[in-house]
Amino acid sequence: MTQIKNIGLFTSGGDAPGMNAAIRAVVRSAIYYGLNVTGIRRGYEGMITGDIFAMNIKSVSNIIQRGGTILKTARCEQFRTPAGRKTAFENLKKHNIDALVAIGGDGTFTGARIFADEFDFPIVGLPGTIDNDLCGTDFTIGYDTAINTVIDAVDKIRDTAESHNRLFIVEVMGRDSGLIALRTGIAAGAETILIPESKTDINAVFERLENGRKDKTSKIIMLAENGIAGDAFEVGRQIKERFPHYDTRVSILGHIQRGGAPSCMDRVLASRVGVAAVEALMAGRRNEMIGLIHNEIAYTPFELAIKHNTDINPDFLKIVEILAI
Ligand code: F6P
Repeated sequence: MTQIKNIGLFTSGGDAPGMNAAIRAVVRSAIYYGLNVTGIRRGYEGMITGDIFAMNIKSVSNIIQRGGTILKTARCEQFRTPAGRKTAFENLKKHNIDALVAIGGDGTFTGARIFADEFDFPIVGLPGTIDNDLCGTDFTIGYDTAINTVIDAVDKIRDTAESHNRLFIVEVMGRDSGLIALRTGIAAGAETILIPESKTDINAVFERLENGRKDKTSKIIMLAENGIAGDAFEVGRQIKERFPHYDTRVSILGHIQRGGAPSCMDRVLASRVGVAAVEALMAGRRNEMIGLIHNEIAYTPFELAIKHNTDINPDFLKIVEILAI
C-alpha cells in the first residue's frame, strides 16, 4: 500500500447545499493529518482541462454556511470517453495527486468507478445530491436543506391557496426519485403524492379528489418530476378537464431547491463524512462511498451506491392517505 500524500478534491454533477461544508472538512482534516490537498474546479471537466490548484487552510475559511460549491461543478461528457479519462489521469499525475475525494451523486460515482478501475487510482466518494437517491447512506448531503426549502415554499403556497380556495400542483425535483416529494408531501399536508416509484397514474388523483372531503378550502398535490402521470402542467390540465369547478394552479419549484445555506443536519453530515473520507484513504480504503447509516460511518462500494434504490417505505404513502382525510 502506497502512502497517500496529496489528495485531489472535486465536486461534480448537480450542486447541493452542504458541499462546501464537505470541502472544508476534507481540506481541514487532510491538513490536520499532514497531507496536501489539491482542488479541481468543475469536476471531471477541470480534471481534463487542468483547472487544478493547491488548497490550504484559508481556502475553506467562512464557507461552511454557504450553499453551492466553491469548487464549481459540471456534468462532463468528455469524461465518458477513454481519451478524456486518459487526459484527466495525466493531469492528476502532473500535479502529483495520488488519491481523489469525489463529492457528488450517481453520475459522479459512475465516472469514479470506471476511472479507478482503468488507472488503479484510489478514490473515495461523499454523497452530495439533493435527491437522496444513493444506497449506502440514510441521507445525502443537501437533501435535508432541499426538503426544508420545499416545505417553506409549500407553506407559502398554502397561504395563497387557502385564501383563493385553490388546488395547487407543486412539482419538485428528484430526477427519477420521489424521496423529496414523499417527505415534503407528508410535512406540508398534501392531499396526495405522485412519485415515480409508486407508478401512480392520474386516476389515483381523480379517485382521491372524487372521494375526498368536499369542504376543504385548499388542496396541494405534490408531484415528483419524471413520474408516469406527466409533468405538473399535464396533471393540472387533466384535473381541470375532469373537475372544471376546481380553480387549479401549478407551481414548479425548480432550482430554488438546490440553493441556500445548508441546514445544521447537512453541515454535520458533510463534516462527519468529510473527515471519514480522509481517514479512509489513509487507511488504504478505495472505491467506496462514505455515508452514514443509523448514525454510523458506512462504506459502500461505488457499484452498490449507484444502484438506485427504488424501495419506498409504503408506510409513508399510507400516512399521506390517512392524514389527508
Ligand atoms: O440531481 C440533482 C437534480 O437537481 C435533480 O433533482 C434534477 O433532475 C437535476 O439535478 C436537474 O439538473 P440540471 O440542473 O442540470 O438541470
